[in-house]
Amino acid sequence: MNQKNCMVAQSGGPTVAINASLAGVIDGVSASSMYDTVYGSLNGITGILNDDLLNLTELMDGHPEYLSRLAQTPAMYLGSCRYKLPHYLDDDSPYVFIFKQFETYHIEAFFYIGGNDSMDTVLKLSEYGKRIGSSVRIIGIPKTIDNDIYGTDVTFGFQSAINIATETIDCIHTTAASHNRVFIVEVMGHKVGWLTLYAGVAGGADIILLPEIPYDIDKVVDAIHKRTKDGKGFTILAVAEGAISKDDAQLTKKQYKAKVASRRYPSVSYEIADQIQEKCGVEVRVAVPGHTQRGGSPCPYDRVLCTRLGSAAAQAIMDGKFGCMIAMINNKTKCVPLGEVAGKLKTVDPDSQMIQEAKRIGISFGD
Ligand code: F6P
Repeated sequence: MNQKNCMVAQSGGPTVAINASLAGVIDGVSASSMYDTVYGSLNGITGILNDDLLNLTELMDGHPEYLSRLAQTPAMYLGSCRYKLPHYLDDDSPYVFIFKQFETYHIEAFFYIGGNDSMDTVLKLSEYGKRIGSSVRIIGIPKTIDNDIYGTDVTFGFQSAINIATETIDCIHTTAASHNRVFIVEVMGHKVGWLTLYAGVAGGADIILLPEIPYDIDKVVDAIHKRTKDGKGFTILAVAEGAISKDDAQLTKKQYKAKVASRRYPSVSYEIADQIQEKCGVEVRVAVPGHTQRGGSPCPYDRVLCTRLGSAAAQAIMDGKFGCMIAMINNKTKCVPLGEVAGKLKTVDPDSQMIQEAKRIGISFGD
């Protein structure tokens, strides 16, 4: 009998909800009875290249409870990688090997769960597959705490990370208020400010600095002085790890990279802290929750999102829709062509309603 199997892998920075999406895919695929075996590739695409594959069907066989446990368990069950495939026109050797592996394991569908780089991998594999006339159906499922994947309203991991970053800001309030200090909480998000914006507003930050709204340090200092004048002895800043000053925003990419490389501070927050300390003569402390934002327990919203995206991905494959990413748009799952997604960043619109509303209640964005 001809085997019909499928494979799933996870890639990029983990989110607490990533296992829930894996469970969603396994559940969706198993319910359809379309494939005999679900393989998991360990550490993303490198698992296929290194022949590190796990037979998930065998593992789950007779243990339905494993799947519900997986959905609730943080961490990344299949591991991850940050491996970027070369373009097939430059070097097709990894592609030749990957599609050979698909043949060897009778893989008819491949689900790749990840962020921007992973969607790029899905696009390249899909294009290469088309070129060689492969029938393997390839589909992307968007995850990242940064929420910066184009073409979907939200990515899973984002809401859970907001919870953690918000809790950090909440916890800082006690010391900031009792010591009348200025505190900076540095929030992840890579080149975009979604996480900082949501955690900043939720945690009651007084100043929020985002990569999309370059800051003027004098405006930041003005906002701190205004609070002091109004009798508010402390200030909390939520600063995105990618925040950039107006001056730095004028630099070319190359000049900015060189500046960051030679910066004597571990990150932008420490530079801002020094500048505030110097200009205001107040004590400034920096708190960096860092990778804790990618751990812990997935919030219910993310669990639901994962389940829906995972299940929709399995359904899309059955409906013959592939070479796409499963997106959530207006609370509906949808297949979005990868060409519209890969290589693009979804950024915060500085003129959006949310920014205007935050400004109206007195939050400064340093602009
Ligand atoms: O893309 C997710 C993310 O957590 C970003 O917010 C952050 O800039 C980056 O990954 C950190 O990557 P690493 O885990 O490689 O330090």
